[in-house]
Amino acid sequence: MSNTRVAFVTGAAQGIGEAIALRLANDNIDVALFDLKDKEPLLQKVAQAIQAKGRKAVYFIGDVTVEDDIKTSIDKTVSQLGGLDIMVANAGITMFKPFIDSDDDDYKRIMDINVLGVVHCYKHAAKQMIKQGRGGRIIGACSGAGKRGIHSMSLYSGSKFAVRGITQALALELAANKITVNAYCPGFILTPMLAHPDDDKYGGHGSVAKMAAKMDPNYEGAQPGVVAELVAYIVKPEAYFMTGQAINMDGGLLFD
Ligand SMILES: NC(=O)c1ccc[n+]([C@@H]2O[C@H](COP(=O)([O-])OP(=O)(O)OC[C@H]3O[C@@H](n4cnc5c(N)ncnc54)[C@H](O)[C@@H]3O)[C@@H](O)[C@H]2O)c1
Repeated sequence: MSNTRVAFVTGAAQGIGEAIALRLANDNIDVALFDLKDKEPLLQKVAQAIQAKGRKAVYFIGDVTVEDDIKTSIDKTVSQLGGLDIMVANAGITMFKPFIDSDDDDYKRIMDINVLGVVHCYKHAAKQMIKQGRGGRIIGACSGAGKRGIHSMSLYSGSKFAVRGITQALALELAANKITVNAYCPGFILTPMLAHPDDDKYGGHGSVAKMAAKMDPNYEGAQPGVVAELVAYIVKPEAYFMTGQAINMDGGLLFD
């Protein structure tokens, strides 16, 4: 068996997921990419960029809310790349809306993608890693909004608090299997998620999102690579002693 480790990254077509996939490939990790059907052209480009680094890359089309999409894609990753060592449950959506205007459909949509999607990834990765018996790394996308509620982001904040709780509990359950479970909590990362057609009128990428969340307009966001570096650390063998953590990467927005 080769010593090459294999990662599975959801929401890998763009933004933080893309940056993580490319960064892990730099450390000789083969990568399976997962995203929605409409992102296929972007997924292809990310896969080609990983292959150009000399690593193996495959991609799968699916929806994290559909359990079988995740299960089947993990099974195919195992057969095509030789196992699963790292799960990055990154896919998620944001929502800026006053709480009293939010309805059940908003609630179901955000909880389905941001929480149930992570649950599917955590569960099927954990099962595969336990079966393999060689430990592993499970990582989820939390947020600063998973530590403190953010103005006009009540449902999003609730979804990210849930990710943090699940991450902590699963870390306890998987400790005996030498699988760590952690989450990253970005502050404001300049990805397509935070882009708005009117950004140029108000100060560039992220400015409309900052106004919606009533954030300090002078607070500067960062590029996705800052989160990818944190993930690159979490997956190292030396990081075995860190588990159950939700780690801020936010330029000092929150201290805890
Ligand atoms: N950008 C930030 O500042 C920030 C801050 C805190 C947390 N996060 C979290 O980081 C993660 C990535 O954020 P990003 O900024 O890169 O977002 P993004 O919108 O740029 O990328 C997210 C990707 O997830 C995919 N995705 C969405 N729903 C999916 C589904 N149901 N099934 C499969 N794929 C799906 C999208 O197609 C997209 O490619 C998210 O969970 C987000 O909540 C981002």
